[in-house]
Amino acid sequence: MSSRYDAVYARSIEDPEGFWGEAAEDVHWYRKWDKVLDDSAAPFYRWFAGGVTNTCYNALDRHVEGGRADQPALIYDSPVTDTVKTFTYRALRDETAKFAGVLAALGVSKGDRVLIYMPMIPHAVVAMLACARLGAGHSVVFGGFAAGELATRINDAKPRVIVSASCGIEPGKVIAYQPLLEGAIGKSAHKPEACVIVQRPMLEAPMTPGRDLDWDEQMAKAAPADCVPVAATDPLYILYTSGTTGLPKGVVRDNGGHLVALKWSMKNVYGVDPGEVYWAASDVGWVVGHSYIVYAPLFHGCTSILFEGKPVGTPDPGAFWRVISQHRVAAMFTAPTAFRAIKRDDPDAEYMKKYDLSCFRTLFLAGERLDPDTLQWAERHLGTPVIDHWWQTETGWAIGANCIGLGALPVKQGSPTKAVPGYRVHAVDDNGREMPRGEIGAIVIKLPLPPGCLPTLWNNDEGFKESYLNDYPGYYKTADAGFVDEDDYLWIMSRTDDIINVAGHRLSTGAMEEVLSAHPDVAECAVIGVADQLKGELPLGFLVLKAGVERADGDIVKEVVSMVRESIGPVAAFKIATVVNRLPKTRSGKILRGTMKKIADGEDYRIPATIDDPAILGEIGEALKRLGYARD
Ligand code: COA
Ligand code: AMP
Repeated sequence: MSSRYDAVYARSIEDPEGFWGEAAEDVHWYRKWDKVLDDSAAPFYRWFAGGVTNTCYNALDRHVEGGRADQPALIYDSPVTDTVKTFTYRALRDETAKFAGVLAALGVSKGDRVLIYMPMIPHAVVAMLACARLGAGHSVVFGGFAAGELATRINDAKPRVIVSASCGIEPGKVIAYQPLLEGAIGKSAHKPEACVIVQRPMLEAPMTPGRDLDWDEQMAKAAPADCVPVAATDPLYILYTSGTTGLPKGVVRDNGGHLVALKWSMKNVYGVDPGEVYWAASDVGWVVGHSYIVYAPLFHGCTSILFEGKPVGTPDPGAFWRVISQHRVAAMFTAPTAFRAIKRDDPDAEYMKKYDLSCFRTLFLAGERLDPDTLQWAERHLGTPVIDHWWQTETGWAIGANCIGLGALPVKQGSPTKAVPGYRVHAVDDNGREMPRGEIGAIVIKLPLPPGCLPTLWNNDEGFKESYLNDYPGYYKTADAGFVDEDDYLWIMSRTDDIINVAGHRLSTGAMEEVLSAHPDVAECAVIGVADQLKGELPLGFLVLKAGVERADGDIVKEVVSMVRESIGPVAAFKIATVVNRLPKTRSGKILRGTMKKIADGEDYRIPATIDDPAILGEIGEALKRLGYARD
């Protein structure tokens, strides 16, 4: 079958208002928009201005009323608690309406914020949808972040209510959430009026009287709340993501554009039909979880899977195949690192042979560069198409993909294929001039961005311009480097900022450096991302100690490792650091992190012409060899 991609892409670029206006007919509006694209305040663009809708209505009530009331909406599959629980659309709507009633009784209304700090339990999905029902913005914080990161988000989002749980469950250990939450509230200047806590039987949390409320008790007495109509341009949520400083950026998502783009993506990008089972093995704390565990599959009338487990160890590397087979999953989305973990533990995919995977059509991978080895392994063993696609927290959905719903294009291994309809992607030089085909530059997207992408940063229009718009006027800076080839295929090679990608998780080395610098014995430091076979990248820290410090290096390293764990969280996977005498710098004092990374990864490198003292690179190489990195 020939692909419709070229024609659909061309139309999306030539007539974006016609294209997205048509797509918007596929969702429910209380009032239709006045203008598909409002560019009156450019470079701030607004999609579906004047439109009135409700995201929760589109995710749940619409399907209950439209004949899917008894179809499963959400299947909670939790190998770590040995639970499988199915919620039909009616049941999920009823739970959500009731929890919206709980929030409303606590004074939450349209325009407020609610922070959600939860493990992968259905209550997290219910809480998100309940916020959407009331028109209150949610801000979900990933459970692997510690008190410091949580406090920053509480301070910025200023939630009226926090929803949390007593614990999360990681393989072999129970993570108490209460001390983290308590620590974060203690640190933050803003205090929530109430915390609603889900008590899990594995570990109950002590409750603070006058502030903490039990989820079940509140639900038992709640009156269901109805959907509140909101403007298409009202915020649906804030999701914080790592930026170039220690301060995370609050990515804002609107209601209307998000609804239209995500609904459109299910058929056209993922090739999935209403009624089918769609599984994103991620976490609701990440953008993939927001878009493809919660919102898009429900907008589309699919059954979504909420998996509280890992690709390996819960209990074995067959977990993914068990879930696919048991719940008849048609399409799955995860990060390449998950497949690298399975490949490592079960190289010949023996566990796969135990399950009937005849229901399975397509595997989608994103979140980090897909290495050809992992791609080939997955294709060989699954025998289905394996689709790499590229996107960011900021865009909320794919920028580059092989849009399987439009008819697959030939795969070029290492490329996420072509720009998704709506996106105009270019590689440019420092002056914003288009690079020749095949040559690496900064990857930028011509404004306006399509619906679904961030309209701004939370309470920070200037920061939005500074981070994304000022460097290349008229374009959005992705902060990825790469190229566009002669066939219009995109190649996304690396970040241009201090972001590293650890097991598909986006982390800032700058934020880690801020933590290391706070150690009383550390004079200077640098954190780089070094190549790792499982996680893609791992952070590695270099410490220069203050003159006169005589404590053992090993003790100081242990202390900084635990400082990062306590401040940023275990998800940073910061476990390796070393003490060096000096850091390599340019004559103007800039630390040569890029060169250090190349040495660590054993790549060829050129000694920068601006280097202050080339001998330091030799010292760094020796230190790295002692840690098992770099090569002769
Ligand atoms: N709550 C609390 N702690 C968490 C957590 C959570 N939600 N998620 C992770 N952690 C902890 C882990 O327990 C681990 O702690 P440790 O240092 O005590 O071992 C640490 O954070 C790092 O976790 P993780 O990145 O999951 O590494 P891992 O070695 O436990 O597992 C993989 C490696 C590849 C199996 C795992 O990273 C994985 O499943 N990745 C899938 C990728 C993914 O979902 N990406 C999301 C974007 S699509
Ligand atoms: P996040 O905001 O956490 O989704 O991380 C976004 C970043 O992850 C992007 O800017 C890229 O650097 C990287 N990324 C995501 N998907 C891909 C992909 N398919 N190929 C290469 N890099 C990717």
